[in-house]
Amino acid sequence: MFEALLNFSEIIPLLTMIFGGLAGYRAGQLVRRRHQAALRRSVLTTLVLLVVATIGVLALPALSAPLVQFGWDFASNRFLVGLPPMAIAAVATWVLSVPRLARLRREAARDKTTALTAEQRYAAADPRLVVPVQLLGISGFLGVYVLMVYRPVTPYTIDIITVNGILLAVAALFWLRHTRRQRILGGEEPRRGPGFLLRVGRGLAGVAAVVLAVGAVIVAGQELSKLPPNYDMSMSHNMDWGGGPRSEQHEAMGMRMTGHHSGLSVSELNGGADTQGTPDKTFTLTAMKKTITVAGKQIEAWGYNGQIPGPEIRVNDGDLVQVTLINQIPDIGVTIHWHGLDVPNSQDGVPGVTQDAVRTGQQFVYRFRVHQTGTYWYHSHQSAFAQVDRGLFGPLVVLPKGAKSDPYDMTVTTHDWKLLKENELARDVSYMTFDQTDGVEKRAVPAGSPVRLRIVNSGTSAVNDEKSPTYVLTGTPFKVAATEGTEVDQPSEIKAGTGIVIGTGGRADLTFTMPNGPVRLTNIENPSTGLVLSPDGTADAPAPAFAADGPLFKRDDYGAPASTPFGLSSHFDRTFKLVLDDGPGFFNGKFDVMVKINGEVFPNTPMLMVRQGDLVKVTIVGRGHVNHPMHLHGHQALVLSHNGKPITGSPWWTDTLEVQKGDIYEIAFKANNPGIWMDHCHNLQHTEKGMVMHLGYEGVTTPYRAGTETGNLPEGQ
Ligand code: C2O
Ligand code: CU
Repeated sequence: MFEALLNFSEIIPLLTMIFGGLAGYRAGQLVRRRHQAALRRSVLTTLVLLVVATIGVLALPALSAPLVQFGWDFASNRFLVGLPPMAIAAVATWVLSVPRLARLRREAARDKTTALTAEQRYAAADPRLVVPVQLLGISGFLGVYVLMVYRPVTPYTIDIITVNGILLAVAALFWLRHTRRQRILGGEEPRRGPGFLLRVGRGLAGVAAVVLAVGAVIVAGQELSKLPPNYDMSMSHNMDWGGGPRSEQHEAMGMRMTGHHSGLSVSELNGGADTQGTPDKTFTLTAMKKTITVAGKQIEAWGYNGQIPGPEIRVNDGDLVQVTLINQIPDIGVTIHWHGLDVPNSQDGVPGVTQDAVRTGQQFVYRFRVHQTGTYWYHSHQSAFAQVDRGLFGPLVVLPKGAKSDPYDMTVTTHDWKLLKENELARDVSYMTFDQTDGVEKRAVPAGSPVRLRIVNSGTSAVNDEKSPTYVLTGTPFKVAATEGTEVDQPSEIKAGTGIVIGTGGRADLTFTMPNGPVRLTNIENPSTGLVLSPDGTADAPAPAFAADGPLFKRDDYGAPASTPFGLSSHFDRTFKLVLDDGPGFFNGKFDVMVKINGEVFPNTPMLMVRQGDLVKVTIVGRGHVNHPMHLHGHQALVLSHNGKPITGSPWWTDTLEVQKGDIYEIAFKANNPGIWMDHCHNLQHTEKGMVMHLGYEGVTTPYRAGTETGNLPEGQ
């Protein structure tokens, strides 16, 4: 219902554009009718057309009003920007044009022999009759542009001035033209119309002007959207200070975008004393080529230590962890980002922000102390879509301090292979693997054993952007013990077969006691793959039939509430709003359906600016047509509310939040980890199209540069 309203209210101005346009054309031609009956007929047609166009105008608020209950953010652009020009034109039409049209028809005779009288021609050419009808079509066009193409976000001031200004300017032009036309027709002014050749010439010039203008917009869009070959990610010309104090000095640096800045360098943000000493756990991860077979096709993949997924890293809370990354893949740079772990900024693995990409034959040592528990994962952040897609990822588990792993505490990393270029698989074809299996992976678990199944969705994007990745566990009731690395307090038991959404980059830990029969984990978009646990490890279990409207796990009210360091009623030092939407546009020289944050793609997306210690609230609105798993590096955000309802279950901390179309979330985090942090959609195909922004701490700058010239390509261009 919500979706239908959102979509119909978006396309309804088309009706006004088309029928208003036809009515306007008809109205302009009335004066040319050859006889009385033709005039009567034409007036009637015009009236019918403009009634349909008016239905479009009335339908816009009618369809948008119910959207308000889902959030004013879904309706505000419709009411404040789309509607006014259409309403103005419609009122003008009904007040000025319709009575004149009606009189024209009433006073016309029914015969086909009498030509129009001079009075009739004069009345038919009246600008008060013609212009409003023509404006109705123009206003529909503006509505289409605003709601379908441009899709503005608050504040709308400039948009409101622009659309109404355009309407008024067009009205003035039309008015002048028709006033003169009426005077000529009424014999008040001599007809000194241009000759045939001149008219053709004018027409051609008009077409050429339109073609040139469209061409100029395309070329400008391409050129202006190209990322510079060398840019500074700690700077932005669109810094958003969230209503808190601004730093003029930082802003002045931001306007320059590149160059040398004073300030705290990200490389100094290395954890200080906390990361000194002998590491408790050391690992070496070597990025190398690896040929694997998925769905019967050989893929040239890449893996850490030649494994896909990469080796599981299992550490304890409090451990000092050291990982040496070696790159043996020819011709590319790689990094490791510790997804969900709040490491010091210099260890975050973002090329061009926190380090240089590690070139072939080189190495880099990561060092951080872990202060969290739960299920995380790691992946390369260089050309993230291409490299994660190709296999540079692995699971990472943090057990509580001093805890030993239970025997059936296990991870399963599911991966949807998207980009298999050399293997001629279409980009939109999906092949999923559960760990290393592209079919059904089987594991033995003795009946009666406690099982903790840690699911990591390492996919780069959902099989279908409009549906969130959904997993189903069958064969046993279970509990959702943790989401995105955070333990749920007192999780209740859930029925077997309940769907669990795990967005790309997200995780969920399911716990249960192993029954005598098999237990199967299935991703419903890829039912032929999965994981089956059984006492002897050989049993199979059929994929469940999961209806699109099957039961779904809801995190909002799951588990027991507990106290949190801040909440909905806290005083926030900064508040930000992010409207996620889509629409045609350019990113880095390419025209595509863009996925946008506040109407922009990188580098024009807002950079959220904070000061250390700030309590920050972010409202995220999913206003577009697809879902976005939003991921903030280096911080844990507390979800405060979902679609206006406070979260009442166990405190919901997250690093990756699946924002579905129609969702409004309020989240909050403490700015307690200074640095320059990526904040992006973890549908990495969206990341690659510029759905990226940064969280910046005032005064923090980076010595690293991104862009083709630097070899650092965090966004994957
Ligand atoms: Cu897992 Cu910036 O990402
Ligand atoms: Cu997205």
